[in-house]
Amino acid sequence: MIDNRSHYYFNSDMIICVCKRVSCRDLNAAIDKGVRSWAELRSELGVATTCGRCACEARRHLRERTQGSASPAETMAGQLISAAIGAVRECA
Ligand code: FES
Repeated sequence: MIDNRSHYYFNSDMIICVCKRVSCRDLNAAIDKGVRSWAELRSELGVATTCGRCACEARRHLRERTQGSASPAETMAGQLISAAIGAVRECA
């Protein structure tokens, strides 16, 4: 699968996390300040702490900015987190 998304959203004001109003620019600023892990990113910006639907894209962004393209395992982890949080919300 070819991922063409990174070219248009890096360094943009596009909102990644609607719940916390976190944009790509905010993610980049946090990474530039030294954030390198998923836990640090969540703590710093609050991404994926409410509905969780941004988890996949936020993780992918972090991975691409810090280490190159996202691994299949990380992409799957983000999707599973998003799906699990969505399932919990639907059951509540
Ligand atoms: S969109 Fe990020 S927690 Fe809801």
